[in-house]
Amino acid sequence: MNGRKILLVVGGGIAAYKVPELVRAWTKAGAEVRCVLTEAASSFVSPLVLQSLTQAPVRQSLFDPGEEGQIGHIEVADWAELVVVAPATADLLARMAQGMANDLATTVLLATRAPVLVVPAMNVNMWDHAATQANLETLRERGVLVEGPDSGELACGWEGQGRMSDPEAIAARTSLLLGTRSMHGNRMVVTAGGTREPIDAVRSVTNRSSGKMGYAIAAEAARRGAEVVLISGPTGLATPAGVRRVDVETALEMRTSVLAEFDAARIIVMSAAVADFRPANASDRKIKKEDLADGEGLQLEMVRNPDILAEISARRDQRVVVGFAAESHDVLPAARRKLARKGCDLLVANDISRSDAGFETDENAVILLTPDGDTEELPLLPKTEVASRILDRVEKLCGARE
Ligand code: C5P
Repeated sequence: MNGRKILLVVGGGIAAYKVPELVRAWTKAGAEVRCVLTEAASSFVSPLVLQSLTQAPVRQSLFDPGEEGQIGHIEVADWAELVVVAPATADLLARMAQGMANDLATTVLLATRAPVLVVPAMNVNMWDHAATQANLETLRERGVLVEGPDSGELACGWEGQGRMSDPEAIAARTSLLLGTRSMHGNRMVVTAGGTREPIDAVRSVTNRSSGKMGYAIAAEAARRGAEVVLISGPTGLATPAGVRRVDVETALEMRTSVLAEFDAARIIVMSAAVADFRPANASDRKIKKEDLADGEGLQLEMVRNPDILAEISARRDQRVVVGFAAESHDVLPAARRKLARKGCDLLVANDISRSDAGFETDENAVILLTPDGDTEELPLLPKTEVASRILDRVEKLCGARE
């Protein structure tokens, strides 16, 4: 988002009180933000607050010589790389759909050539009204993008659809829209999380993995414009913006899903903790303790799961395949052996004996290894940054294969 230019048009609805939080998320990410308020908007959010947060004049009037003298309305429209309308009230959507230019906000919206994202917020009955839906349809046909609205409790006391999307979700969507596009045109498959192998109807064996690293890679690739399919074991994580997610439980299901996506994929990142073994005879009923002799333990026979990474690496052709290795000791030699055994293009090795990195944490310290013997040790970094470094390497590998 660094240096990217976002113009925020604020409509006059109660949800405008969330706007400073949105602006803050953008400016923290390094974006330059300018605000235009409708006349009604300033009843819900203070222009002075927005001016302080953006460190730029806030514009409200089309005809104020002072404001217009500082930055002309066409200049504002031309300046923006992305225009976000939040909250987009029913009235503002109607005026946009009609192509009106009867105040500064609508004039700028008519004049801009930047992509426009509207974030509707209103009473559920106003949202459901045929007029509002028709206006939205018109806007969609013209290429206007829509974020939300969410369902839930509304400020007016009603329940239903009409809540403005959370500032965090809006910020994620805008970051996606402003992404670098460096991976545009590439289909990427990411596996994440641990697989769960059933013992019986209620019990299972699983691998420890929060899925955070894989989700961070999927999110970053989508931000860079890749078409991302995230094949995920059970996790408590939200699907990153712009990512298609396929939920699986077992290693066999993960293999089926990976193979189904294989042909169309250019890049495959296997960050999932795939269980190496599964119970040989999973019972579809619960195994009862009472059925076992007193004090008798449960004997489980485990069979090997297929090694998905080795299988796809062997038939990858031009595809770039990335594997992960979680090691508790002798990290580097073990990772080097694993890279040779798996046959992938890049191996990301984790030292899981460290308490500040790896499982469940938001930070990771990894070593990147390639078959030519190159080894790059990264310092302890947020998983989002590790994802970025891994994808920089993936982009280079793709470039070398073109
Ligand atoms: O063999 P190990 O589990 O240590 O290797 C880790 C790498 O191999 C990860 O990239 C993981 O996603 C992948 N893997 C796999 N199928 C398995 C086991 C691991 O694809 N059965």
